[in-house]
Amino acid sequence: MVSEHAAQVLVASNRGPVSYTQGEDGSLTSKRGGGGLVSGLSAVDDKLWVCAALSDGDREAVRQGVAEEGVRMLDIDADLHADAYNGIANSVLWFVHHMLYQTPLEPAFDAEFRRQWAAYEAYNRAFAEALAEEAGEGAAVLVQDYHLALVPGMLRELRADLRIGHFSHTPWAPVDYFRLLPDDIGEQLLRGILGADRAAFLTRRWADAFIGCCTEILGGTGRTRIGVHGLGADADFLRRRSHEADVDERMAALREEVGPDRRTIVRVDRMELSKNIVRGLLAYRALLEEHPEWRERVAHIAFAYPSRQDLAVYQEYTAAVRTLAQEINAQYGTPDWTPVILHVKDDFARSLAAYRLADVALVNPIRDGMNLVAKEVPVVSDDGCVLVLSREAGAYEELGDASIVVNPYDVSATAEALHQALSMPHDERADRTKALAAAATALPPQQWFLDQLEALREG
Ligand code: F6P
Repeated sequence: MVSEHAAQVLVASNRGPVSYTQGEDGSLTSKRGGGGLVSGLSAVDDKLWVCAALSDGDREAVRQGVAEEGVRMLDIDADLHADAYNGIANSVLWFVHHMLYQTPLEPAFDAEFRRQWAAYEAYNRAFAEALAEEAGEGAAVLVQDYHLALVPGMLRELRADLRIGHFSHTPWAPVDYFRLLPDDIGEQLLRGILGADRAAFLTRRWADAFIGCCTEILGGTGRTRIGVHGLGADADFLRRRSHEADVDERMAALREEVGPDRRTIVRVDRMELSKNIVRGLLAYRALLEEHPEWRERVAHIAFAYPSRQDLAVYQEYTAAVRTLAQEINAQYGTPDWTPVILHVKDDFARSLAAYRLADVALVNPIRDGMNLVAKEVPVVSDDGCVLVLSREAGAYEELGDASIVVNPYDVSATAEALHQALSMPHDERADRTKALAAAATALPPQQWFLDQLEALREG
């Protein structure tokens, strides 16, 4: 049954724009998230965001009926959600699209995988049913990411009148790698997305990879149109936010931690395997080894937001990052120089402080849908910043010309790129920062979202 308050624009994603925590006295506190979709969606009226309840606080909020206006959280059984999100989305689909498997050992698709796959189907069905219920006649529904790849096909069967779009925020795997998946599962995923009127990606490269998979495996993309929308940095928000008092405070503290007259190499990521933090530290160690003139004259600020810690492999990766940072500090550090300043904590104000201070930004992912840090640093930078950028980040298509580009697996070349970046004359660095900021802000989030909506409705 279609709801009485049917919306005309609907967004569906696993993680929603708000989350809740429950205090010991039972009271609920809400926290709003940021990101491209949140600011993008602020440009439209008559909208609904359908997302999953992810925490006990979220589930309690659903039970008490306190969800925010314009947001519907789905109270999906916690075990089922864990199988779909941790088991399939983050341990299989994320690994495939980011090419993270170490193939002699993994993957091995077995009965446990099939059980989790059934949960992934049920979780996608819950979204499709909620969207079918909430969408007004002929409404536009924008389904987000690999978590919900089956939703477009399922929703099309329930509501043929809707305009359905799917957007992938990740890379898409090349066909030979995509074929690691069991054949029926690969086909189901492609057909799920092809249930949309339009499937869109962050770069041409990922769109072409998707088309390649559809062509090889299914013989084509059928009636689904393919689009590319390269999300840019939100310049107005970043410039304002990065000059608020809490950022200034953190800058002062960070300057103290770095020490006087030192250059900074900054990285800010989720604590995420695909971000390649370990090889980044290895490159920094190689820089100190090969170019001893930088010892005591540079500090590497590495900030990471804790992420996906329910998965053992993420815990192990976090431990590897911490151990290597400690080793570098033990090997090279002096009483008044800490070579690596590593913090694993959720603190956006501190990230902005690091952006402003950065002489060099290191963005070296193994693969990345876009990488917004690469776009945010040049916008916020106080004194210009050189970007050392992986050619495997989506942002490379737009920022490659003004960056120092690296192969993310080549630790020695990354160390040389850091040396080159640190040595760059001030004027060249200023010119490059200007060029980077212009390219990075070409498609602000609201326009990015409106373009997708318009293209979907045009079809
Ligand atoms: O890139 C895909 C994505 O869903 C992003 O939108 C986001 O940065 C990240 O993954 C968040 O992951 P999670 O919701 O698992 O913390």
